[in-house]
Amino acid sequence: MSHPGVCRMCAGSVREFFDFGRQPLSDAFREPDDPRAEFFYRLAVGRCETCTMVQLLEEVPRERMFHQDYPYLSSGSTVMRAHFEGVAERFLSTELTGPDPFIVEVGCNDGVMLESIAKAGVRHLGVEPSGGTADLAAAKGVQVRKVFFEEATALDILRDHGRADVIYMANTFCHIPYVESVFRGVSALLTDGGVFVFEDPYLGDIVERVSFDQIYDEHFYYFTALSVRRMAHRFGFELVDVEPLPTHGGEIRYTLTRAGARTPSPAVDRLLERERETGLAEPETLLRLAAGVERIRDELTGLLRGLREQGKRVVGYGATAKSATVTNYCGIGPDLVEFVCDTSPTKQGRLTPGAHLPVRPPEAFAAPYPDYALLFAWNHADEIMAKERAFREAGGKWILYVPEVRVL
Ligand code: SAH
Ligand code: TYD
Ligand code: ZN
Repeated sequence: MSHPGVCRMCAGSVREFFDFGRQPLSDAFREPDDPRAEFFYRLAVGRCETCTMVQLLEEVPRERMFHQDYPYLSSGSTVMRAHFEGVAERFLSTELTGPDPFIVEVGCNDGVMLESIAKAGVRHLGVEPSGGTADLAAAKGVQVRKVFFEEATALDILRDHGRADVIYMANTFCHIPYVESVFRGVSALLTDGGVFVFEDPYLGDIVERVSFDQIYDEHFYYFTALSVRRMAHRFGFELVDVEPLPTHGGEIRYTLTRAGARTPSPAVDRLLERERETGLAEPETLLRLAAGVERIRDELTGLLRGLREQGKRVVGYGATAKSATVTNYCGIGPDLVEFVCDTSPTKQGRLTPGAHLPVRPPEAFAAPYPDYALLFAWNHADEIMAKERAFREAGGKWILYVPEVRVL
């Protein structure tokens, strides 16, 4: 166990509860002949003893993760596309009904949400530092700035467009260690009655499902209602609503307003109470999570080695960022998993970070089917298993590893 870290939210002391060791960047897919050395950092996670915020102990410089070639494409899942159309519809019918409303989305990626806002003719702006994905958003008619959101960005937007009724972030706020600058920016940019809404993986689901693969470089924070409420208070905001979401294996959508602007929904107190009852933010709970991680590693590597000895073919499904933690922490290389199939053109033909599993298009899956498919994109299980029904019909088996190692 190393020295305590310093909380990026409140400057309290962060006590480590798990160390995954040296890890590559989870979205750094490599060309097979790339001669450059891979970048590694220490992936360790801890809890702030003052504010309870669970966070990484080491921060990767943002430009190393989010750049022109950032490969994650939000539109890759039908379910997620429908989810974000729903988000847009809801904002359009609730928060964006004034005379000339304006919404800012931070981390808009390929425009999966803002496309619907643009089609409705509503003033909007996406903020997206990953240039390749921002270009895809622009091609859909979305207004986008290729910059990182922080206080200075918010002031620029304010000067050019005026205040925003909604500031929205999906799977992005937890990527941003520098929360004080973000809150100053939100505070400057948001209208008095406006909402700051963000949805991110929920620590409660990570603990319940032992979904340790949610822990990687880009996910700096692992929010709870308690830690988010503390953060809101610290920066003059109030947590007024929490909404559990099924996306990405269990998330919460948090709605913040300026302090006193709206009456908090009873759902906030209910969730805080449940977190207290289950001891979600308690060190014992996190140590239990740590023990679960080691158990899953041992069971999964045991299963894969056994299958290799029996001469079975195993292929990975979904070259997720999450899988970087699984493959590198468990030592799963091409000797155990032949390749990974993935629909993202940005990942195909490359090697997964660290573990160097080749990424192939989904057509490679059926040519011919492997005996087993390790479902790295387990959060899209329904969508993928429905699409690949023929695999099961042909005798193929799925391997899942959260909340426990199972063969289906
Ligand atoms: N909102 C999308 C994308 C999530 S991936 C979805 O839910 O599917 C996270 C995105 O946040 C990436 O596209 C990344 O480039 C972007 N990002 C990271 N840091 C950012 C920052 N400081 N400001 C704006 N976007 C950021
Ligand atoms: P996802 O689990 O959304 O995120 P993360 O990278 O943050 O862990 O990634 C899903 C990956 O799986 C993405 O690279 C696209 C791929 N995918 C498929 O190959 N086929 C599919 O049917 C779906 C839904 C996703
Ligand atoms: Zn803290």
